Amino acid sequence: MHYCFLNLQLVCFLSLFYGGLCELQTSCQSGKVYMGWCQYNPNYTNASAYAHCIKRYVVQAVLFKRPFSLTPSVVHLGLSQLDIRSNDHDVRLEVSAQSITPYGFNVHFSSWADSITHNAGVNWLACL
Ligand SMILES: *[C@@H]1O[C@H](CO)[C@@H](O)[C@H](O)[C@H]1NC(C)=O
Ligand SMILES: *[C@@H]1O[C@H](CO)[C@@H](O)[C@H](O)[C@H]1NC(C)=O
Repeated sequence: MHYCFLNLQLVCFLSLFYGGLCELQTSCQSGKVYMGWCQYNPNYTNASAYAHCIKRYVVQAVLFKRPFSLTPSVVHLGLSQLDIRSNDHDVRLEVSAQSITPYGFNVHFSSWADSITHNAGVNWLACL
């Protein structure tokens, strides 16, 4: 590993003369994004209180702090938070990274059927 690391440093140094190869090999950025909070409606005590928290479809845009020189080849999402009302309901949530560009991407959160989703969060990692 140590040898590889040193070798990578050398490649990075040499790449200063060949236009950004170093960034191609080593650049990653990361962050966290949330679906957004859905509060129950306190005016109801029955299922209507959660009507707007089911079948949610939320798109959150992520902007990279520094644009990549190319579209990142890897964008990985890891669930970091689920706030889902689960009694008598299945937990249903899908997250995906879409519309990936050098500047950012969109995180799509979707729930379906009768799942009541208050919030969800993902950690994201993007690498060239
Ligand atoms: C609850 O009812 C009050 C009074 O009718 C109304 O002002 C408020 O907007 C309602 N809340 C929601 C979340 O619908
Ligand atoms: C919940 O109760 C309200 C009246 O308080 C009623 O209008 C509504 O239809 C009920 N919703 C459900 C899903 O039972």
